[in-house]
Amino acid sequence: MNTLLNILVLPGDGIGAEVTAESLRVLDWAVSAHSLDMKISETQFGIEVFREHGALISNADMALAKRADAILFGAIGGPGYQDVPAQVRRETGILGLRKHLGLFANLRPVRGFAALGDVSPLKSDIMSGVDLLVVRELTGGLYFGEPRGVTGEAGARRGINTHVYTEAEIARIARVAFEAARTRRGKVCSADKSNVMEAGALWRDVVTEIHAAEFSDITLDHILADNCALQIIRDPKRFDVILTDNMFGDLLSDGAAAIPGSLGVLPSASLGETRKNGSRPALYEPVHGSAPDIAGKGIANPIGAILCVAMMLRQSANANPAAAAIEKAVEDTLDAGIRTADIAPTGQSPVSTRAMTDAVISRLSANA
Ligand code: IPM
Ligand code: MG
Repeated sequence: MNTLLNILVLPGDGIGAEVTAESLRVLDWAVSAHSLDMKISETQFGIEVFREHGALISNADMALAKRADAILFGAIGGPGYQDVPAQVRRETGILGLRKHLGLFANLRPVRGFAALGDVSPLKSDIMSGVDLLVVRELTGGLYFGEPRGVTGEAGARRGINTHVYTEAEIARIARVAFEAARTRRGKVCSADKSNVMEAGALWRDVVTEIHAAEFSDITLDHILADNCALQIIRDPKRFDVILTDNMFGDLLSDGAAAIPGSLGVLPSASLGETRKNGSRPALYEPVHGSAPDIAGKGIANPIGAILCVAMMLRQSANANPAAAAIEKAVEDTLDAGIRTADIAPTGQSPVSTRAMTDAVISRLSANA
């Protein structure tokens, strides 16, 4: 590998800017230490753009996003969004990026870092050592199904959303989950509501068929989505890959995010279909969101964004050694007890966003 990768950085709202800036320092380290070839450009996204253009991203930048090999995304949301019409939010916000770039596969890895046993709401022996991956379908189901909307007169209105999946949509996200399991512990657990919903029963049938036809080396279990929520809290170590639809994936991935004790340490990737030129649209986004209450203070946890850089290096740049080095440096930093405010135990004074990143970078250099 050493093909030029075009990376578009969209820091976005709230703490997006500060954590993304720090994660780019880690990317710089990887680019020079591992001689990677990348072109990195940055542009605006979010509420500032809305005030100027009436959309959360300009048309020109949406075109850039469609051509990029990878997008490093910060966060969306916060003050001012009450003025953004629902339609504008849906077409030009994060849902619009997902739709227009065809990002149908959302990967949300969750690790229970032993060092965070004191801040996780789960008991240390339950959370420590968890290593699971939620594979969430991202461009179908309830989020995008038609018909949708509110009809009728005041007092008698009907709100409608449609839960719909085609066989093709189920099959392609199932393949992503099975392929991910092949690089991990070889287990997929598919969560649905096949006991209640026809689309859920179809989901279960199609996942079973794809498994039998193409992935018999992988262990497949099915679980009802409500029971999955319970098991994620009771015994998260039983999971390797959790495969699920858009709506359940939203809920289950937030639930699983409680495991490490802070949203601040979680990355995610959203992938599209491989293009004719062999590249694959991909957007990397820390799970934490814009956190307006702490924005601009320089205290946000940069680890989610830093682990997004590692995910990007692995997934989009095939630079596994650089990705592994970053993941190891993050773990070493946590093991050393260095803590931003969100993961500091009571009584310990937390470090800043920048100091946390310095700590990761100094371990990267020391481990190299
Ligand atoms: C997520 C978020 C989004 C979603 C929101 C911001 C639209 O909760 O990425 O999980 O519901 O998908
Ligand atoms: Mg969510």
